[in-house]
Amino acid sequence: MSFTVAIDGPAAAGKGTISKAVAAHFGFAHLDTGLLYRAVGAKVLRGADPLEAAQTLEPIDLEGENLRTPEVAQAASKVAVDADVRAALVAFQRQFAARSDGAVLDGRDIGTVICPAADVKLFVTASAEKRARRRLDELNGKGMGLGFAEVLADVQARDKRDSERATAPLKPAEDAVLLDTSDLTAEQAIAQAIEIVQAARA
Ligand code: C5P
Repeated sequence: MSFTVAIDGPAAAGKGTISKAVAAHFGFAHLDTGLLYRAVGAKVLRGADPLEAAQTLEPIDLEGENLRTPEVAQAASKVAVDADVRAALVAFQRQFAARSDGAVLDGRDIGTVICPAADVKLFVTASAEKRARRRLDELNGKGMGLGFAEVLADVQARDKRDSERATAPLKPAEDAVLLDTSDLTAEQAIAQAIEIVQAARA
């Protein structure tokens, strides 16, 4: 029997950290669906057609630290507006969710569009300033040398584009549990998420 955990929320809210920890705790597989859009965005930056890039995506395209830059993030959120690009990525995500060993998928539309019947849905948020501060620390930890204003502007531009698009906009599913991580440490946020998933499993 599959067990699916859908974790959605805006950029840099802590979805990745929480999803990895929940997957490790329960022995589930984890898919960061943002990587699919980032991989398509990165190909478009290199001159590819967005739809063709989405239709020909390969597992190898999802690897590499070069996908974790603000430039690729912006390109990802631009291609993610396109309904045909999104449709090309649906089957892969649903197949992953149906794995028998349980799956955690994180993104923007997992609880609303990709897995509307997920066993647990979490919507992870935090203030834009807190998210930008965390993303800044993460990127500068890799030596990118960015400024706070630049990272905040990236986060806010993506929030706006992701929330206002017509197809699969960023929003909590009606039955999602909200988890605001603004004033939580990573450990506290992970503990709360595990508790919510545990309650749904019981
Ligand atoms: O989660 P991450 O920041 O890596 O996502 C990059 C971009 O990909 C987001 O800003 C969003 O536009 C898009 N995305 C999406 N749907 C998902 C995951 C990501 O539209 N399920």
